Amino acid sequence: MTVTILTLFPGLFRGYLESSILARAIARGLVGVKVVDIRDFAADRHRVCDDAAYGGGPGMVMKPEPIAAALEASVPTSSRVIYLTPAGRLFTQALAEDLAQGADFTLLCGRYEGIDQRVIDSFVTDEVSIGDYVLSGGETAAMVVVDAVARLVPGVITGESLQEESFSEGLLEYPHYTRPEEFRGLRVPEVLLSGHHEKIRQWRLLKSVEKTMRNRPELLDSEGLSQEARGLAGQIRREGDGHGRDEVT
Ligand code: 6GU
Repeated sequence: MTVTILTLFPGLFRGYLESSILARAIARGLVGVKVVDIRDFAADRHRVCDDAAYGGGPGMVMKPEPIAAALEASVPTSSRVIYLTPAGRLFTQALAEDLAQGADFTLLCGRYEGIDQRVIDSFVTDEVSIGDYVLSGGETAAMVVVDAVARLVPGVITGESLQEESFSEGLLEYPHYTRPEEFRGLRVPEVLLSGHHEKIRQWRLLKSVEKTMRNRPELLDSEGLSQEARGLAGQIRREGDGHGRDEVT
């Protein structure tokens, strides 16, 4: 899979692409990332890529010609082109899983007030936002998307890590502990030291449900939730008090 990133700020990606999991995935040939500088496709001597908005208003708009030329030079017409914009649909784990299926795709990073609508109409297949807040450009959002997708590509990380993590069962992740057994008077929950795999599994599921209820209660309404998780949620609700706070385990 190759991800092509179109941006006015290619330098922002260097450090990111050189570090840890992603760098390894690239080195092992599991993921390719190509960063294209839109400015290289500007026609004039000063390489101008923005202009004032028709109809007036504050801020500048990214001109259509350099983006169109950059796309035509670096992306096959069949490739999905994702424009990163706060006005897009929300980026989710489901979309990350979809993008991790293997097909090449392109991330188009906007700056200023955005890009000329005609580029969206002619080339963009998806408009995607990473959350309900405004960033000064799509570059950090592109890094978020590349990270979330690359780690789902087979071989990048172990299947076990993927199975256990937040959202994989529609729940937030349970708490983790490592050595020492006691840290500043706080002990690791006894059940985790017991070696009793079934009890550990049940305890982790309970903690996941409790955490989800506290931080993201709307996730518990999902269809995909297991019967067991559903049962635990109902039980916690009936018991009422004591589960809104972290209690002694
Ligand atoms: Cl994808 N771009 C910008 N500029 N702001 C955002 C965003 C994207 N997602 C959330 N806020």
